[in-house]
Amino acid sequence: MRTAIYPGSFDPVTLGHWDLILRAEKLVDRLIVAVLHNPGKTSAFDLAERVDFLRELTWTRAKVEVTSFHGLLVNYAQKMDAQFIIRGVRAFSDFESEFQMALMNRKLSADLETMFLMPKEEFSMVSSRLVREVGGMGGDISGLVPEILVERISARLRDPLECLSSRLGIG
Ligand code: PNS
Repeated sequence: MRTAIYPGSFDPVTLGHWDLILRAEKLVDRLIVAVLHNPGKTSAFDLAERVDFLRELTWTRAKVEVTSFHGLLVNYAQKMDAQFIIRGVRAFSDFESEFQMALMNRKLSADLETMFLMPKEEFSMVSSRLVREVGGMGGDISGLVPEILVERISARLRDPLECLSSRLGIG
């Protein structure tokens, strides 16, 4: 069984990530989209929300599962019996850090192969950082994140307290 892990912060998931998921699922039998839980880094969306968004997007995709992990990716990949890591490369500027990460992962786990995939050209300028920036200032993020998530992500970015209040049932 060919298993790949697609790790990332997904803060939040973008159309570029979604494009990559659709490409990667064609190559493997099982695709684990793994959201990094990094308590040392503040994220705009908490772990549960980031996982929820991805699950909402992928629940109809039979080969795809969404999980979260912390610690070293190579350890998690081993635990999940994955042979491949999927990473997206949008532009040359992504390459250096991705190359370093791939080589480090290879040093840590020689059998784990990193596969780089390119999203559609139209998503080459799309990043979670820009989604946060544009959405946080009230800009239109349709065309940057999957259509079914536009409203929820926009609302949360415009009003970060909405998440808290809806969880507490006071929103
Ligand atoms: O979406 P991102 O933030 O570019 O994803 C980065 C990620 C999650 C792939 C990377 O930070 C990672 O794998 N972190 C886990 C810790 C780890 O294994 N570090 C060594 C890799 S060089």
